[in-house]
Amino acid sequence: PAVLLPWYDENRRVLPWREEVTPYRTWVSEVMLQQTRVQAALPYFLRFMEAAPDIPALAALPEEQLMGLGYYSRARSLQKAARQVVEQYGGCLPQTYSELTALPGIGDYTAGAILSIAYGQAVPAVDGNVLRIASRLTGYEGNVLDGETRKTVREWMAEIMPADRPGDFNQALMDLGASVCLPGGPLCESCPLATLCTACREGRQASLPVRVKKAGKRQEERTVFLLEREGRTALRR
Ligand code: ADE
Repeated sequence: PAVLLPWYDENRRVLPWREEVTPYRTWVSEVMLQQTRVQAALPYFLRFMEAAPDIPALAALPEEQLMGLGYYSRARSLQKAARQVVEQYGGCLPQTYSELTALPGIGDYTAGAILSIAYGQAVPAVDGNVLRIASRLTGYEGNVLDGETRKTVREWMAEIMPADRPGDFNQALMDLGASVCLPGGPLCESCPLATLCTACREGRQASLPVRVKKAGKRQEERTVFLLEREGRTALRR
């Protein structure tokens, strides 16, 4: 944190969910950013906030309008959670990890992001970016797709997080992962952590992190219906 936060203060990206921070805005932006890059998510985020400026508005948004905002299944689960928040918490996102992760679509990463960025709690938010940075920094060669690794990295982050700026610390890691510690070719010459980094020192950036997918794809049985209309010949069985 001693070098990361000053770097963030100099290099942070100006983003709408950083300029005006509310638990709701943090939540929606993090859900979008799990699936989309910052630049692509920006217009969706602004449109979403216009259509549903707060949790009660999202809970009440008509289906058609909701679907018009993109992020189909995620938008649905956002709305489902929003309705639950209105019913159970009076429209205000809860402030504990266990209550947040009990809501649809909120996992440990999103809960950590909301608690640290919007509520100022020292809770890590570990995603692929953070796993990549952590494994390069420490030279860790275990599989980062493993649940155990994730847990270990979360514990490590919890130890080194500054209590006074947990949200900035997490977002500094997000920015570092998005702009410097890139998956393909990291820009170590611009990295504030370069002198602390095992991978950089040993020239092992390209072989870290180790990502081993579980073998075999999941097989699912599905029933598929095909509707045909007379006069349309493009789709033929
Ligand atoms: N990627 C995921 N969360 C982010 C955030 N809050 N700011 C920038 N990039 C992100």
